[in-house]
Amino acid sequence: MTPGIRPLIAGNWKMNGNWRGARRLADAVRDMAPGLGARLLLCPPFLHVQAVAATLLGSTVAVGGQDCHPAGHGAHTGDIGAPMLRDAGATHVILGHSERRADHGESSALVARKCEAALEADLIPLVCVGETQAERDAGRAEEVVGRQLSESLPLGFITAGGIVAYEPVWAIGTGRTPTEADIAAMHSFMRRHLSQEFGPTAQMTRLLYGGSVKPSNAAAILALPDVDGALVGGASLVAEDFLAIARAVPEG
Ligand code: PGA
Repeated sequence: MTPGIRPLIAGNWKMNGNWRGARRLADAVRDMAPGLGARLLLCPPFLHVQAVAATLLGSTVAVGGQDCHPAGHGAHTGDIGAPMLRDAGATHVILGHSERRADHGESSALVARKCEAALEADLIPLVCVGETQAERDAGRAEEVVGRQLSESLPLGFITAGGIVAYEPVWAIGTGRTPTEADIAAMHSFMRRHLSQEFGPTAQMTRLLYGGSVKPSNAAAILALPDVDGALVGGASLVAEDFLAIARAVPEG
């Protein structure tokens, strides 16, 4: 945790669930949210953003998309623009997730343009960075993450409250996590890197860890310096597990 930053626990539902299940999951999270020290964010598939936002209306739980197009609107079949997400009730959007970087060949330059579109639409971007196993084995983890940060975050990202998630690709959905020392070292590196590029405001940027976070490892990870919350995939699909992770946030 970073003093002065309220931790954020974000759920990335990825391409899972149906309309009824999304409503039920959002309902359960909303009911258990009051009194938590952490802020909560749910990122359902596009199709369910509006229903989840309606379910969470009046609660403290925020809603986000999982991607947006770099243009606000236009002839882009199958895509979703940031203003449409905002209109549907979202306040945040995940960008540059490694599954999008891999499945759709998204470059950091494209992620930066998507961030600009998000900021323009008054959405808070949550940008994911992280190295592959081969890059870590080659001792290049910091170099890779540093380059992704430099190329993915546009001017204005930090002052607008943009969020960064460190998600080692090899830890996502695998049940494997880096050691606590490795997570702490990477988060400290990211803090220094962002401060060098964006100035002292970056001291207050939320740095999340993501990749196989679950109730059993959340307390140890969330207690690390410069870890200001978690981006949770699989475990966010079960309300009790997601809330158990949120409850593992250390007291202020
Ligand atoms: P996981 O996914 O928690 O299932 O590893 C995390 C993510 O991809 O955001």
